[in-house]
Amino acid sequence: MTSPHPLPHTRTRTVKFPTAAVAARYVAKEIDKLVRARNAAGKPTVLGLATGSTPVGLYRELIRLHKDEGLDLSRVVTFNLDEYFPMTRESQHSYFRWMHETLFNHVNIAPENIHIPDGTLKPDEVDAACAEYERKIAALGGIDIQILGIGRTGHIAFNEPGSPQNSRTRLVTLDSITRRDAADGFFGEKNVPHHALTMGVASILEARRVFLMAFGEHKAGIVYKAARAGAHGSHLR
Ligand code: F6R
Repeated sequence: MTSPHPLPHTRTRTVKFPTAAVAARYVAKEIDKLVRARNAAGKPTVLGLATGSTPVGLYRELIRLHKDEGLDLSRVVTFNLDEYFPMTRESQHSYFRWMHETLFNHVNIAPENIHIPDGTLKPDEVDAACAEYERKIAALGGIDIQILGIGRTGHIAFNEPGSPQNSRTRLVTLDSITRRDAADGFFGEKNVPHHALTMGVASILEARRVFLMAFGEHKAGIVYKAARAGAHGSHLR
């Protein structure tokens, strides 16, 4: 696991795990420790969350920790990385729905503490809503732990290669490879939205800790590139 777009103050470390389940348990334990410490101090924990296949095991483990080991998530505040645009909340393709079905409906995170970019906005409302998303993160003192996957193009959230290092939450156009990768879930590439709302590279890498998780042989090439970019302090290309 590593962060592919290093900032000058960022230290990166790549760790290999024998299985995805072991990696998920490791990251869940780190979240568990932080949340319990913050709860004891009466303070919130701010988590940045991803969708997709990568974090499923992590969310399953967080649900287990909540149900079996008393992990109280009532003070946790979440910010999701992205959402297709346009997208209704009820759609089977929405990240809003996916996050509720996969995690939020099974734990005690307060609904008012859940933030997901809003795929139902009118185009002329987008810029103000994106600025407000950033303002809310800043008002809480920033993200404590950010969970990331990585796409085959090397995207983090929907920041495709070439996204500026100082980018913020905004509307973006999706790469054709990214749309092709999503085609199965949408019953064909022609149904995949061309746009998405995404947190920016800077919004993500300002988090105090970033766990970029990647599983499977098909991710090996891009993980190698990302790790090399991290080691050389350069952008991912
Ligand atoms: C999802 C997201 C994406 C995914 C990436 C990997 O919120 O931001 O960047 O993390 O596309 O997807 P999976 O995990 O399905 O391989």
